[in-house]
Amino acid sequence: MKFFVDTADTKDIAELAATGLLDGVTTNPSLIHKSGRDFMDVTKEICGLVDGPVSAEVVALDHPTMMKEAEILRKIADNVCIKVPLTIDGLKTCKALTSEGTMVNVTLCFSANQALLAAKAGATFVSPFVGRHDDNGFDGMALIEDIRLIYDNYDFGTEILVASVRHAIHVLQSAKIGADVMTAPPAVIRSLFNHVLTDKGIAGFLADWEKTGQKIG
Ligand code: G3P
Repeated sequence: MKFFVDTADTKDIAELAATGLLDGVTTNPSLIHKSGRDFMDVTKEICGLVDGPVSAEVVALDHPTMMKEAEILRKIADNVCIKVPLTIDGLKTCKALTSEGTMVNVTLCFSANQALLAAKAGATFVSPFVGRHDDNGFDGMALIEDIRLIYDNYDFGTEILVASVRHAIHVLQSAKIGADVMTAPPAVIRSLFNHVLTDKGIAGFLADWEKTGQKIG
């Protein structure tokens, strides 16, 4: 499963990219606002920090204006992935862009039927929002299971990008279901490295090593 980080904070992105485990970045208008940076500037900088796809979202609601925005965004770098909302105009834009070889992430997916439409529109990625699904009394991970089943039934190439990830259990469940990608805030990705028994084990080994009086090298 690929790991994307869901942020426009370049410090966090650079730190996580340095682990060698980061496969891409997702942003959205709220994350751009949180960064306090100019959209074009920060997107360009992010594209230079990772080799993988960097999702940059259009804000228009109609197909012709979405295409104009996408035209501007895709000139930023080769690894820009245009993010469009799961609407009729969004999917028209998706179809047009992917036919030209541009990567598209269809976002704000909340049902398996919507995901089916995104795949039929040739989406590179579909982003079901599991956390927001859970918040509203639905089962976010059941949605991922349904999409996996449907995509496998028809051999769709669209990658399931689990979004709105809130905690490590969402990551674990995504991997067990066989999602292609998950995008999570930096804190959730960092939490995956931690285990109290790892810390305890290191402390024990180092204490015993010190007693040997030896050095490596
Ligand atoms: O980037 C889309 C998605 O991951 C947003 O997550 O936490 O705002 O529901 P959240």
